[in-house]
Amino acid sequence: MNKPRETFNSRMGMLMAMAGSAIGLGNIWRFPYMMGRNGGAAFILIYIIMLVVLCLPVMVSEYLIGRRGGFNPFSSFDRLAPGSKWRWIGFLAVLSSACILSFYCVVGGWSVKYLLDSCTLAFSNPHSDYAAAFGGFIGSPFKPLLYTLIFLGLTGLIIVFGVHKGIERMSKIMITVLFVIIVLVVVRSLTLPGAVDGVRYMFVPDFSKVTAGTCISAMGQAFFSLSIGCGTILTYASYVSKQENILASSAWISFFDTLFAIIAGLAIIPAVYAIAYMNGVEPDVSAGPGLVFITLPGVFSQMPLGGVVAILFFLALLLAALTSAISLMEVVVAFIIEELRRSRARAVLMSFLVCGVVGVFCSLSFGPLEGFKLFGLSVFDFFDYITSNIMLPVGGLLLAVFAGWRLKRANYLDELTNGGKLNIPRWLALTIYYLVKLVAPVGISLIFLNCLFS
Ligand code: PFF
Repeated sequence: MNKPRETFNSRMGMLMAMAGSAIGLGNIWRFPYMMGRNGGAAFILIYIIMLVVLCLPVMVSEYLIGRRGGFNPFSSFDRLAPGSKWRWIGFLAVLSSACILSFYCVVGGWSVKYLLDSCTLAFSNPHSDYAAAFGGFIGSPFKPLLYTLIFLGLTGLIIVFGVHKGIERMSKIMITVLFVIIVLVVVRSLTLPGAVDGVRYMFVPDFSKVTAGTCISAMGQAFFSLSIGCGTILTYASYVSKQENILASSAWISFFDTLFAIIAGLAIIPAVYAIAYMNGVEPDVSAGPGLVFITLPGVFSQMPLGGVVAILFFLALLLAALTSAISLMEVVVAFIIEELRRSRARAVLMSFLVCGVVGVFCSLSFGPLEGFKLFGLSVFDFFDYITSNIMLPVGGLLLAVFAGWRLKRANYLDELTNGGKLNIPRWLALTIYYLVKLVAPVGISLIFLNCLFS
């Protein structure tokens, strides 16, 4: 295995690619709602504590394993613990990524369709029944499949150009455009009459709403949002040069991801409030597809400049989903290239086919296959459930245990400080190490048990 590997060409490109993986649908349709439900600014505070104490150390460790291992997840673990069973954690990560991509691409497909619809002014009639339109679309046998495959095809098209020319270059462009767009949408949303109540819903701190459950949901959301536990950070890190500061990069990515989630909330929630008040109804800001594909089209149809805002918003949604999807597909592609010794183009095709077939089943579970259940869940819900609630936390937990108990402390600290060249205070490096070794396994087990029994 001494084939020269591609690397990211610039620090900015690497940060944008990793931030792109983190920033996705989770930021747009879950975070704002969770904030509103769980005490606003109080939730942000808890979220940040969870982020710093639990997620950041695990992210640093995933990054560190990838950079030190230097290969796809399977081989990276194998290089750090040669011949041991630990490499199967790497395999689990590849499998998790493939499973997430298989349902993520269905929603990605919906955003392609909604972007095209918004370009033909489909969301300009305030009297349309957007719930019925959405239900009709996702339930139809062919259309959503077509869009799912278009989305997956776009993902593959970016990856086929490789780490530098494909992933890095496109992430830089897409994330920049995404930030500009979302800020424009925030300006529109906040200047609507009545928007301030939405801002209040998001931010007013209410510590009485903070319970143990809040802390656990904050942890779960932080893991999913930062894309930890399924090998995306690890795979990207294997393309990072030995000069990068792992701790600083991880901190920047977490900061950007959280900032984006808050900005996305400001783009959505105040607008939903403003339009609901205009119509004299209660605002509905529940999380998930309903918010993005039913409530928001209704909101856009009633706001001044709504046609333009709809185009911008669905473009942002598509870009956010795409940058996450490329990171997921790259995990599978890197595995196929290095373990099955196929060319990049072939590996992309194979990933496209595997995730495409599962994706088609996920998509059909809203229509013709509605009655088909796996463990009582539709195919889509099954993949969503097992990945978010089981595979990611288990992956994160095993990763933390590996970093804390299997890697030697000296090696961990050596990689973290680039062989002592970086000026990271020893107490800080040791704190990160012990958070991973002792606190993270307990914390993650808690999320896991909570999710399993709730
Ligand atoms: N972080 C992405 C989001 O917030 O939508 C979802 C995700 C992407 C999870 C990549 C895991 C992953 F590996």
